[in-house]
Amino acid sequence: MLKDKRILLVIGGGIAAYKSLDLIRRLRERGAKLRVVLTKAGHEFVTPLSVSAIAGEQVFTDLFDTRSEFDVGHIRLARDTDIVVVAPATADLMAKIAGGHADDLASTVLLATDKPILLAPAMNPRMWDNKATQRNATQLGADGLRFVGPNEGEMAESGEGGVGRMAEPLEIVAAIEGLFAKPAASRPLAGKHVLVTSGPTHEPIDPVRYIANRSSGKQGHAIAAAALSAGADVTLISGPVHLPDPAGARMIKVETAREMLQAVEKSLPADVAIFAAAVADWSVAKPAAQKTKKDKSGAPQFSLVENPDILATIARRNAERPGLVIGFAAETENVIEHAKEKLRRKGCDWIVANDVSPQTGVMGGDRNAIHLVTGKGVESWPQQTKTQVAQALMARIATALAGAPR
Ligand code: C5P
Repeated sequence: MLKDKRILLVIGGGIAAYKSLDLIRRLRERGAKLRVVLTKAGHEFVTPLSVSAIAGEQVFTDLFDTRSEFDVGHIRLARDTDIVVVAPATADLMAKIAGGHADDLASTVLLATDKPILLAPAMNPRMWDNKATQRNATQLGADGLRFVGPNEGEMAESGEGGVGRMAEPLEIVAAIEGLFAKPAASRPLAGKHVLVTSGPTHEPIDPVRYIANRSSGKQGHAIAAAALSAGADVTLISGPVHLPDPAGARMIKVETAREMLQAVEKSLPADVAIFAAAVADWSVAKPAAQKTKKDKSGAPQFSLVENPDILATIARRNAERPGLVIGFAAETENVIEHAKEKLRRKGCDWIVANDVSPQTGVMGGDRNAIHLVTGKGVESWPQQTKTQVAQALMARIATALAGAPR
């Protein structure tokens, strides 16, 4: 698939740059035609000589190198390619691209290109988690750049773990192949805004205690990732979870149900809204300003107030009601009956219902078996991973948006 495809590889300055040498080898094995730009920081990790030996090509390094400007020139480098791959994409390079900088050859080429750009981020997990990097990643996703990784796992710095490892060379190859294999038809949600809620909400009792439902956020985050792969613009509104942000999603992180409702309303209009969050039904009427102490007067009493039902509020809106509103029903018995009743009560279009009784292992696990309850009837899907459920749901949504009966 990569035979004779022109690939411009930008190698940024990170420990993971050594893996880019293997990436070059893998791409050449597949018949790709490579050109390589090495950033100044990249020089600190791999040498132009080793890169050009493996690439079988001269390496481009400096914007103001008159010889390479004469031979090829930065505009031709940017245009005479089918794709630009940045591996490793460092925090600094991402910031430069997001900000539109052009002060060296790599950033100039990235600004000048009219071809798809694939980023393989690699950095320390704290740098990846940093608000600035996340903001840049979100911006780059919104600008249409694609991501592969970063992955979770051991870092070069011993003892450091988390999300930030560069994707493996073969994963990057697969992502490049995926981009070449993806004509518009396999991005069926391109141009659509999909809004997803995920995770639990935390309702404070006092500064250290809260009420919450059990929720890992895995299904909601998988749905956001599947919507991104289907080409949608995705807003993911999430309560507190221990999951990486799906790269490219517009993230809004909230704590409470009220904050979640506000964030959802602020993010409208949307074509599709999927409410996968396990929202707490109640919050404490007056959370204590200080930590409540254990004392002889016994357990504290507090009164609860009902939280807004986000799904029902959005489904019953007149203005800016998303075209397709989808809720979830986590039940432990009579799953389908409860789901049908929920569909009517909440005014949504579909309910994704699942059995979360402890013996199913759905809660916190990686697999899910769901029933899709629509106005037309009930589909029961086989047990599959949460990622597969998310992908199947996207396919179903795409068909619905294309005008098939819902
Ligand atoms: O009523 P129940 O909590 O079982 O409904 C589940 C569905 O409603 C889920 O889609 C959930 O995200 C949504 N929901 C909501 N706001 C609430 C309660 C539930 O959006 N306060």
